[in-house]
Amino acid sequence: MLDVTKIRADFPILDREVNGKPLVYLDNAATSQTPKHVIDVIVDYYQRLNANIHRGVHTLSQEATDAYEQARLKVQKHFNIAKAHEVILTSGTTHSINLVANGFSSLLGKGDELLVSAMEHHSNIVPWQMLCERTGAILKVIPMNIDGELVMEAFDQLLSERTKLVFCNHVSNALGTINPIKEIIAKAHEVGAAVLVDGAQAAPHIQADLQALDVDFYTISAHKVCGPTGVGMLYGKEAWLKKLPPYQGGGEMIAEVTFDKATYAELPHKFEAGTPNICGGIAFGAALDYMNQIGFDAIATYEHGLLEYATQELLKIGGLKIYGTAVEKTAVISFNIEGIHPYDIGTILDKLGIAVRTGHHCAQPIMDFYQIPGTVRASFSFYNTKEEVDVLVAGVARAKNMLL
Ligand code: ALA
Repeated sequence: MLDVTKIRADFPILDREVNGKPLVYLDNAATSQTPKHVIDVIVDYYQRLNANIHRGVHTLSQEATDAYEQARLKVQKHFNIAKAHEVILTSGTTHSINLVANGFSSLLGKGDELLVSAMEHHSNIVPWQMLCERTGAILKVIPMNIDGELVMEAFDQLLSERTKLVFCNHVSNALGTINPIKEIIAKAHEVGAAVLVDGAQAAPHIQADLQALDVDFYTISAHKVCGPTGVGMLYGKEAWLKKLPPYQGGGEMIAEVTFDKATYAELPHKFEAGTPNICGGIAFGAALDYMNQIGFDAIATYEHGLLEYATQELLKIGGLKIYGTAVEKTAVISFNIEGIHPYDIGTILDKLGIAVRTGHHCAQPIMDFYQIPGTVRASFSFYNTKEEVDVLVAGVARAKNMLL
């Protein structure tokens, strides 16, 4: 069991008021809050350690380098990754996906096919559309059903020897669906296709074992797991990372440079041009430490309880419809009330101190599927409470009364 009162004391922001009311933060799928442990690491970095890494013989540079490389090892261990150089530290999931999509430009041609799930975030759609424009490859969509689950029979039919890449999120940001990625990866591999899984929304809830999944690429953003913004991970199997060309040129990613040519550094530096987010990387490692000390099994059990309670209570409000009713889902509830625009509900909830996200959640194809402009999304974390669910439900009921 989680001691949520004790956990909440780790998050200074949870004590603040918004519009004269205690903050009820339910926008965790957009970004998680930051515990004091991680804030302290960030402050300590700038007070004691600040230097550029991999470049200096001086003590500060070496200490900062050690701390940064320790963070890489923490990420490696957390995701059970075979080799530390298979962990590329990026600015986040969007950067990670663009890096891979750019790398495949020289490996694809006309007639090659890419399969994308119907419930992707724009960051796992647009880079592949751009890749198709560059190469002549074709993007095909794995459809979903009304519950927000992928139609696996359709996936089986779309797969062929023409399929070169499959992309899918581990968890949908808009619906909370947990996708059957192990099955997707195994089936894609049978036809020789590589798989990229966007793990951004899974990482706060599920500790993925990347060797057991046998996934080719997996991406996350640190700010979803109690870390800072502007840093994240691209995992790639060594063989793929060796095959892909560098994404950006610059310092750090080279072995030797003359005006005739440059040779590239070994992994992971080949993909880490320029001065990275050093403090962010170190804080990313500290954030994983923090979450692991709470424990992902305990987090999943607790959040599931919140999801069930919030679903049951919200559905007592007449006219409220939940989008995303998959059997396997994380603690994300997307909903609308008949006759009310989601933005209006979100605005009233904000006046009551309740933070939710409204809109298309960077997943417009999902909204098109349900033929709605957007939803109100409440996304929960291990530091939320049943009392906060009650405040949300009362707030939504009040918004309905005011707006209808
Ligand atoms: N992708 C983030 C979300 O779903 C920002 O809100």
